Amino acid sequence: MINIVLFGPPGAGKGTQSENIINTFGLKHISTGDLFRKHLGEGTELGKKAQSFMDNGKLVPDEVVIGMVEDFLNENTGAKGFIFDGFPRTVAQAEALDELLKSHDTSINAMLMLDVPQDELKRRLLERGKTSGRADDQNEEKINVRIKEYLNKTLPVAEFYEKQGKINKINGVGTVDGIFNDISAAIKVHS
Ligand code: AP5
Ligand code: MG
Repeated sequence: MINIVLFGPPGAGKGTQSENIINTFGLKHISTGDLFRKHLGEGTELGKKAQSFMDNGKLVPDEVVIGMVEDFLNENTGAKGFIFDGFPRTVAQAEALDELLKSHDTSINAMLMLDVPQDELKRRLLERGKTSGRADDQNEEKINVRIKEYLNKTLPVAEFYEKQGKINKINGVGTVDGIFNDISAAIKVHS
């Protein structure tokens, strides 16, 4: 199996690049943000638990996220591998993911960290907010909360993978195809 963590701040291009990765490498995509938005749309209990956190740009509590990922892994045991997009976002989630993968006799091969400056992140998210309908894209204040959550709670996850020697830094500014070339090269080295 090949298991890749696609890591980076809000608006770094994780979802955009995931599409190319799925098509090229045949990996199963798990975006915790997309899963939560699906639950929100369907009005499930899980969606109700996540809504106020998401709408305000705050992270959803670990136990809610980890339970959802565990279910997803159990439902997709035949997959060739996974691309984790927007997960793990805290050190507790990273530890839980290692344990979950171990119980499936597998592990993370590499973490790819998309590097994009803050002013570019804000520009991309505000632009998308004009059409996305996402409550968390609607104003600079909410985007600032998301970036702050990333800096305070998510960035320590980079150190977690650094210690395991699994970090690959990728410049996330440029054309979508150019960035994908760098991502592809990194995945090939680790697969
Ligand atoms: P989530 O859905 O994961 O959102 P996010 O990480 O905040 O950011 P995005 O998904 O908006 O950005 P992205 O990196 O995927 O970029 P994209 O490709 O879309 O999470 C939402 C919320 O759910 C969280 O705030 C939290 O509440 C909750 N949540 C989710 N996971 C959680 C977890 N694990 N723990 C706790 N809570 C969790 O691109 C962005 C824009 O830029 C697009 O318009 C795109 O077209 C454009 N773009 C992409 N690449 C380029 C490029 N190279 N050049 C120019 N524009 C580009
Ligand atoms: Mg995304």
